[in-house]
Formats: sequence, C-alpha cells, structure tokens
Amino acid sequence: MSKNETPRDPNEVLEEYEETLDSVLAEVESPDETTEDDDISLGLPGLSLGRRDFMKAGVAAGAMGSVAGCSALTGGGDGSAGSQSTPSGSGASHTVEPGEHDEYYGFWSGGHSGELRVIGIPSMRELTRIPVFNTDCASGYGFTDDTRELLEESGGYSWGDNHHPNLSETDGDYDGEYLYVNDKANGRIARVNLTYFETDAITDVPNMQAIHGCCVLSPDTKYVLGNGEFRVPLPNDGTDAKNPDNYTSLFVAVDPESMETQWQVKVDGNLDIVDTGKEGRWAISSAYNSEEATDIQGMTKDDRDNVKAFDIPAIEQAVENGNYEEVNGIPVVDGTQESSLNQGDRPIVKYIPTPKSPHCVEVGPNGDYAFVAGKLSPTVTMIDLNALADSSDPEDVVAGRPRVGLGPLHTTFDGNGHAYTSLFIDSQAVKWDIEAAVEAEEGSEDPIIEKQDVHYNPGHIQALEAMTTDPDGEWLVSLNKLSKDRFLPVGPIMPDNDQLIHIGQGEEEMELVADHPAYPEPHDCVFAHKDKIDAKKVYDKDDYEETYITEEDSGVERTGDNSVHVKMTTKRSEFGLPDFTVQEGDEVKLSTTNIEGVQDIIHGVAIPEHDINYAVAPQDTREVTFTADDPGVYWIYCTYFCSALHLEMRSRMIVEPAEG
Ligand code: CUA
Repeated sequence: MSKNETPRDPNEVLEEYEETLDSVLAEVESPDETTEDDDISLGLPGLSLGRRDFMKAGVAAGAMGSVAGCSALTGGGDGSAGSQSTPSGSGASHTVEPGEHDEYYGFWSGGHSGELRVIGIPSMRELTRIPVFNTDCASGYGFTDDTRELLEESGGYSWGDNHHPNLSETDGDYDGEYLYVNDKANGRIARVNLTYFETDAITDVPNMQAIHGCCVLSPDTKYVLGNGEFRVPLPNDGTDAKNPDNYTSLFVAVDPESMETQWQVKVDGNLDIVDTGKEGRWAISSAYNSEEATDIQGMTKDDRDNVKAFDIPAIEQAVENGNYEEVNGIPVVDGTQESSLNQGDRPIVKYIPTPKSPHCVEVGPNGDYAFVAGKLSPTVTMIDLNALADSSDPEDVVAGRPRVGLGPLHTTFDGNGHAYTSLFIDSQAVKWDIEAAVEAEEGSEDPIIEKQDVHYNPGHIQALEAMTTDPDGEWLVSLNKLSKDRFLPVGPIMPDNDQLIHIGQGEEEMELVADHPAYPEPHDCVFAHKDKIDAKKVYDKDDYEETYITEEDSGVERTGDNSVHVKMTTKRSEFGLPDFTVQEGDEVKLSTTNIEGVQDIIHGVAIPEHDINYAVAPQDTREVTFTADDPGVYWIYCTYFCSALHLEMRSRMIVEPAEG
C-alpha cells in the first residue's frame, strides 16, 4: 500500500470478502446451474474437472490464504455422491486404560522442529521425542561431546526439516533396528537406533540441496533412498548459477549400515516423494516441474509431468561399468531422458507421464501398484509395477486412474483391497476399492466407497503398518495441516490436528475417534506393532565408546598445562565428587557415568552459566568438554527429580583465578 492511501477498515474488507464468498458458495451448492459446457478439460481421456469443483478449489485455496479460522470453507461435506461424514457408531474406542500399554508405536516426523515424536496408538499419547536435526536441552542432545560432534560433522546446522520416517525392513517387514528420516532443508539423511531411541548417524549428502522423498529399498533395506527436490547446478559452486537449464535434480542411494553415499542419478524435473516396490528392483518417484522453470507459473505450465521409475539393479550395473561422472567423490549416473543409458533395452530410469504436479507416491502392500496422488488433478494414477519391466510405451503401465476428489496428496492401505487417499482441498479422507479402480474407466468415481470429513486440509495419511506387505488395518491417522477451531485458541500459531480414524478391516465405515493437537509441524508418520520394537531399559556399556566410570575412578586428572579430565559417577543422591577444582582457562572434559542399574532412574548434569545440561540414563556414560573461563563457584546440580534428596544432589566446581 502506498503511503498516500487511507487504510481501509479491516472489518469492512472482511465483510466484503464474506459477501463474495457467500455468492461463490451458493454457486457451489447448486451444481444444477452448471452445464456440461462449463467443464474444463484436463486433456486426459475420460477426465474433466467440473466448474463446481474448480470453484470450490479456488475458494478453499483462497480461504487458506486469507481467512484462517473460517472452518466452513474447507470442512468438506460438499454433498457430492459418496460423501459420508456421519460416525458409524461402531463404538471403536481408543482408550488405553491407566497402566495399560498401547498396541503400536507411532513415529512422527516433527517437520521443521527437526525432531521425531513417538506416539502410542491407539491412545495418541506422546511417549517421547527423539531429537535428530535439532538440539534438545531435556536430553542434552547437541550438548554432549558425541552428539555435538554428530551435528557439527553433518554440516553444523542447528535445525533440519524432518519429513519422512522409515523403518528398516527384513523380508518386507519391520525388523525394529533403525529408523531413517530425511532433512529437507539441508539435504541430509539421519538414522535413529531403535534399541535406544537415539539418533546415531547423520549423512550430509553431497551435491544435493533439499532431500524431500526418503524411503528404504524393500524388502531388506539394501539402501536408504532420497529424492533431491531442488534443482541446483552440479556441482553447486557458482558455476551456472544464472543458467537454470543446467540445474539438476538427483536421486541418491545411501548405505544403511555405513551411512555413506553410494551413488546418485541425475534426472529431468524436480523429484518429490519416493517409495519402492517390494522386490528390490523399482523405486518410483513422483516429480513436478518437467518444464524446469524457476517460478510457479513456469512450473505449472504444461499439462503433464513425469513420474520416474528407477531400475535399481540397472543403475548398479551402470555404476559398476564406470558409466558415471564423479562429482564431489560420488558417482553420478546420467538418468536424464536424453542419456544414452536410457536409450537401450533396459533404461535405468523410465519416465511415465501423469497429470501435472502430482504429489505423493506409495506402493500398495502386495507390490502390484504404485499410487500417484494427483494434487492438482482430482485423480490417483495407479502404475502397474509388474508391467513396468517389459513395457515399451509408458502409457501402458497405467493400470487405473480413479477420480477421488480435490487435492489428493497421499494414499494408505488396510491390506484388504482398499486405498485411503487424503484430499487436501476437500478436507476429506476417501476410501476406495483398488481392484474396482483397475476395472473402471479412467476418471470414474465408481471405485469410491465412502468419504470421511477431516479437520482440516490433510497431508499425509497413514494406516497401521501400511508400508509393509501385511498392513494391519484398524486405525488410520490423518495428519491435518490446519486445526482452526478444533482446539482452545493458543495465539496465532495453532497446532496441527492429527486425527485418529477407525477403519477396522475395511468392512466398516470410517469413524473419526480423536483429535490430537501436534506442535508444528509433523509431515508423516509410520507405525510398528510393539512386538517389533525391542527398546533397552538400561544401557549396555558395550554399546558406546566412552569409558565407564566407577566410583573408584571419580577424580580430577591434569592432562595438560591447560586441560583437565574430571571423572565422576552419578547415583541417588550424589555425584561421585562433592567438589572439584580447576584453573581459569582450563579445557575441562567432564565424564559422567550413571551407575544405577534400575530402569527410569536418570540423572541430569547441569552446569550453571556454562550452557551445559544433559541427561545420563542408567549405565550410560556421557562426556562434555568446555572451557572454565570465569573464576568462581558453580553448583553442578541434577536436573532429573531422581529421589527425595534430588535437591541436595550437587557437586561444586571451583574455578581458581589464573596466577598473575
Ligand atoms: Cu539425581 Cu535428581
């Protein structure tokens, strides 16, 4: 607004907006007034998007931008065929009685909080948080020497954007060993050890700026795979910075054990989300911006984009044959459409046209189909993975394309022949029949079984163990981006709303059972039956590198003119040293072992005015190194309420002034 303009009364603006909205909604509510002529062709056989739907899409998008809090706009329930929002009254309960355990672990990505959250299903109780790309003062992650080094050596960033958690698999089932998750912001992949629920490795993948999609290669976690979303020059060192034609998007394979980057594949367009078939051959990536533009108008200009099907053994063969260029030490194979590696009988990457800018791809439990949600198209494109190897015409591999509703983003499965797709714009979960979609004509709504309203604007949707070959059904979580009016107002930054929906074995109607506020901003989650995770309750000292400190070891050792090593135990309710003395300017390495053998007796080590606090779990040893810069007395205290004498649990650090 220019300085000379008189600002308008915001209420007046809002009133005007609402009037416009009312008239638009009236039109939406009266589909009779629209005619065939109003339909807008998407240029696809059997597909057109009704004017009514287009209007609704526009209204919803506009509402999200301008009037958050107006729930009626995106609450779904447009009265279209198949809409179903009445609870079925099946009496499904998500209550877990006091003292009882949940049946499933849910692992939630924490988005730009950088952490993971562990949530019990069906209670939706938050059990713990696992810091990954962030620092965490409750656990001391990022404070102790090992965790600080982990963050420093993986780029030194203080945050990450944690999107897609994936559990390690053996024979297509979760083996409970590890969880892998990507950092979209800085192109990293992290590993969480599920014995201790701790991040134990982070790989800063070379040549890639943003890793968005991330999955493990089924059935035996041969690789952790990542999709480079942002196109950048290769290498991104200033060369070609102003020449977007030479930017590129990469697909990467990381070794799940060493966490070293193995190889990368260069492709056309921007890669989005990735999932693999169940046999270890295909990785399917959704992709957008086949135009390779740098702005939104350009990115959405064409009607089609290309899903990429990566033939993993063919890529491995190309690497073995030396058909790559090495960039920053990584073999980069050319998988662009023009590449010679894509011209012969066995291309390393197949390009499969879909409606433009699709979002997610998930492979169904039996591995027959990859489901590519249309986002801008109201359809899900089903790719027949069994036909992929032999087809020469990419169009032949499309097995079905049901029309599911507006803004389809993600699909999940109950293992009994049903797919459940989240509809961002309609604010609904739509349940549909997979085989019926294969039988039906493209663009048909016939496969739809029912729709459940969610609140509001869902992204990922996940049913129990839906990514394995044998999903468990029963519960589904819709990760809704907006909660608007669902919770007490807590200021302008509202929580997300993760909704628990009962789906049974697919025979019953969906039933919304619980709202669960989530701190910004989970993207995805994954569930494992509790029997598949074997978390240790006490540390095994063979599992870490630090030296276990006994009560006899407690003491101060001068290791140099300006360095000391302080060793001390922690137990109820004392530190191994009631006090210790160091000299001003000393580099102090403090090693602490919690000698308790009992579950849940944790001690904290807090050093005031030194920015240090960390937890030491039973039988664990942690080390922290700092400089004692300021002479004085510092009361080291225990931050965990460990006993009735917790307050008295202290040690005194005396920093003597330097001589002279
Ligand atoms: Cu140890 Cu409080």
